[in-house]
Amino acid sequence: MTDLHTPWPYPRWIAHRGAGKLAPENTLAALRLGAQFGWSGYECDVKLSADGELFLLHDDTLDRTTDGHGLGGDQSWAALSRLDAGSWHSPDYAGEPLPRLEAVARHCLANGHALNIEIKPSPDLARETGAAVARAAQRLWGDAVRAGRSAWPLLSSFEPAAIEAARDAAPELPRALLLEALDTDCWARAQRLGCVAVVLEHSLIDGPDLIARRHAEGLRVLVYTVNDARRAHQLFAWGLDGLISDAVDHLHNSTHP
Ligand code: G3P
Ligand code: MG
Repeated sequence: MTDLHTPWPYPRWIAHRGAGKLAPENTLAALRLGAQFGWSGYECDVKLSADGELFLLHDDTLDRTTDGHGLGGDQSWAALSRLDAGSWHSPDYAGEPLPRLEAVARHCLANGHALNIEIKPSPDLARETGAAVARAAQRLWGDAVRAGRSAWPLLSSFEPAAIEAARDAAPELPRALLLEALDTDCWARAQRLGCVAVVLEHSLIDGPDLIARRHAEGLRVLVYTVNDARRAHQLFAWGLDGLISDAVDHLHNSTHP
């Protein structure tokens, strides 16, 4: 159980996939755009290249968000680094590269941003990806955390095996279980994985009780993906700890609690 009297070190407002939909998701350009709108917390999706580099990509395949094709995890970083991850979005972002986690860490540390790394494994690579993310986070953020200049990134995943491997590789890093549906074991599962938080699909919350019960169990509660200001207000009034949103252009500025 975590101590809920310890201040939660993450912003309540977290930009989804970098900065939602206004810039190409999971790119440094997206993080820069989010910062222009005043955001200081970011969620991104991270997976492994064929040669062991950690890079940002949401889908298993490259086709939707780059000019590449096929499974992202099948390609070397040398090949991935040459892809255009911006043209699919708009001409403004043509040529925007896929970033490695290392570049995102540098960017966040230099700008005082908090990061929620969603471990998004390619098929059958949950444990490898979870362990690699945890080890990389330890290496990339360790000095800044020990110097009191940054919080650890929050590691999250829908896949318990990825969280378990992250815990085994770097137990001190904070972890969260992502849930798109509830089941009878889900809260106990989060506890067994040593999670400090659960990140729920927001419509699973229909009142303050669910959040209060998790708090009593020592778990913070975050949600994805809320783009409506009234819904955001309601959830924060019910005690929510953090909210992941695409609406970086209006939500945070108009509804900052
Ligand atoms: O981490 C929260 C959210 O990003 C989970 O959904 O599909 O956008 O990665 P998805
Ligand atoms: Mg995600």
